[in-house]
Amino acid sequence: MAAKKEPKKITTQVLFDMKQNGEKISMLTAYDYTMARILDAAKIDVLLVGDSASNVMAGHETTLPITLDQMIYHAQSVVRAVDRAMVVVDMPFGTYQGNSKKALESAIRIMKESGGHAVKMEGGEEIAESVERILSAGIPVMGHLGLTPQSIYKFGTYTVRAREKAEAEKLLRDAELLERLGIFALVLEKIPAALATQVAQKLKIPVIGIGAGSGVDGQVLVTQDMLGMNKDFSPRFLRRYADLYTEMKTAFERYRDDVKSGDFPNASEQY
Ligand code: KIV
Repeated sequence: MAAKKEPKKITTQVLFDMKQNGEKISMLTAYDYTMARILDAAKIDVLLVGDSASNVMAGHETTLPITLDQMIYHAQSVVRAVDRAMVVVDMPFGTYQGNSKKALESAIRIMKESGGHAVKMEGGEEIAESVERILSAGIPVMGHLGLTPQSIYKFGTYTVRAREKAEAEKLLRDAELLERLGIFALVLEKIPAALATQVAQKLKIPVIGIGAGSGVDGQVLVTQDMLGMNKDFSPRFLRRYADLYTEMKTAFERYRDDVKSGDFPNASEQY
């Protein structure tokens, strides 16, 4: 049997082909060079420079405060680390809503200054003009529907979205509209699995879920959450693949004790 040909680099076309071939897409967040090196070595297909950096890296309560300059800084660090993965960069709050010219300027800055491969934007019909303008400049766009954290003050909570018929129907309409406009993939966050499956079956482009069940074309998680670095966040959809909080804390304590006792550095650890 011929060995499966591995793509050298993940592109929008490779992701589209993966969906056609029934191969699931792996996506995780990355905000810095060191983590992105490891993620790329592990052959994670897509690295998302998420605006969740606002929470994870900067300690803000929401994703709203992070700026375009800060997103570009994170994206530059990730792009420098990557040989294979596709790097998608979130457009931060306030850089694309309600003004398609500004949206295009923001997306161009991200692409030019970071070297990222695509941008991600939250919303449907409301941002259609911005999506269209950015696409017309040849910039690939990933959509994001369902729980869209940039609208947290409209929703009021981080609970599951689109349980009600009207919201589910709007989500379906938005997904189809975004596909017609030409986005290359869509993230669905925290919606009922049955609805996410329906969207994935309707669309030709890949649909990547977070808290959206297994009937989609790929999965995304926040890397620090799946590594168990954060003890305070335990949504039902999160699977922890390590307990780095405990491992790192133990390592830091051992280091502290070794420094205090004079055990570190020993004779072979000095010049
Ligand atoms: O910013 C982010 O990390 C995201 C993912 C949760 C999809 O948008």
